[in-house]
Order: sequence, then C-alpha cells, then structure tokens
Amino acid sequence: MTDTNGFSLTRRGALVSGVAAASTTALPLEARPLPAETPAATVPVSFTVNGKKRALDLDPRVTLLDALREHLHLTGSKKGCDHGQCGACTVMVEGKRINSCLTLAVMHDGDTITTIEGLGRPGDLHPMQAAFVKHDGYQCGYCTPGQIMAAVAMLQEVKDGVPSYVSADLTVAGRIDAQEVRERMSGNICRCAAYSNIVAAIADVAGAEDVA
Ligand code: FES
Ligand code: FES
Repeated sequence: MTDTNGFSLTRRGALVSGVAAASTTALPLEARPLPAETPAATVPVSFTVNGKKRALDLDPRVTLLDALREHLHLTGSKKGCDHGQCGACTVMVEGKRINSCLTLAVMHDGDTITTIEGLGRPGDLHPMQAAFVKHDGYQCGYCTPGQIMAAVAMLQEVKDGVPSYVSADLTVAGRIDAQEVRERMSGNICRCAAYSNIVAAIADVAGAEDVA
C-alpha cells in the first residue's frame, strides 16, 4: 500500500503499528512510559547577600526564598505559607522588606539582600534581636526571623515618613504608637501569639513609651 505522502506500508505493518498504538493508549495513565525529562534551562543570577557576592545558576521559576534556603543554605528565613500570607519569609531587598516567597530570584539580579543571618550574630546581636530576647518576643521562634526583619524595616519606614493605613496625620513623620506598630506588623503572623511581647520589643527599640 502507498499513501499520499509516498510512504509504503504493508497491510500487516499497518495492523501491527495500529495495535501497538492502541495498546499504549489503552494502558492506565500511571502504567504508561513517562516522556523523557528535559532538564530545566537555568539562568545566571548574582546578588549580594549579607555583604557577600553570591552567584547562582537557577531555574527561573525558583523563588528568592528557595534560592536563599535551598541554594545558599541560609535557613533563617522561614517558609510558613509560601503564599505571602504569614511573613515568616521576610527579608530586606535594597533595604526594603519583602516576602521572599512571592518573588523570583531572577528578579533580583544585582540586588543587595539582607537576611536574619546578616542582621546580627551571636555575641553581636542587632538591637532588635536583643530586644526580642529581653522581652521574650518568641515562643517556638518559627516566625521570629520574619518578625525581626519586618520590625527593623518598619521602624525605618516610620523614620522615612512612609505613612500607614492608620497614620492620622500625614504631615508628622516618625510618630510611632501601638496602633502604628500593630498595623505595620500586621503582615507577620505568630501562631504562638507572642504579639504583646513583640510589640514591647519594637517599642523598646523605637524608644516609644506609649506603646503597649
Ligand atoms: S512564607 Fe512567605 S509569606 Fe508566608
Ligand atoms: S513564636 Fe511561634 S510562631 Fe511566633
């Protein structure tokens, strides 16, 4: 038999290949052979993390959080929800806080990133880390790195005059009270509910007396 494309095929050959195709599609999905895997293409990314230049080749779908935790082994930043809802993954990019689970590492090529490991060290704690210890601002500690990073960045936002949803007077920069702290920290969830001690730690660093 000759088809219109000029291929010749015997009746027997056509039957054999037809039966083979039919038997493959008749297999249950899980028993069918998997298509050969093609390795994901990677792209080079480099950034400065905690003062050190780091260069990686990453699948462009890798989040900044996974790049930090899985590729650079900086496991201080925690994966809580992986959906931008808990704040456990908060790091600073170019001095601004960000949920690292919601952004791709490739979007930060050339950026300066600070994680909790770069804020202070045992024996040389950042004042916010020391205040969390002093005020017992954590219980299990899982949310704590994100809380501390958010707290440090939040106080800088207040200093810079960035208003929040509850700022009553937009002409007065640098005003910090309990309402401001609670609103500005509302993206960071603590399952242990250490909230009042977290607020006390932040108030201590801010030098705010009317925060309770
Ligand atoms: S892990 Fe990123 S916000 Fe929850
Ligand atoms: S201290 Fe446990 S989740 Fe916040």
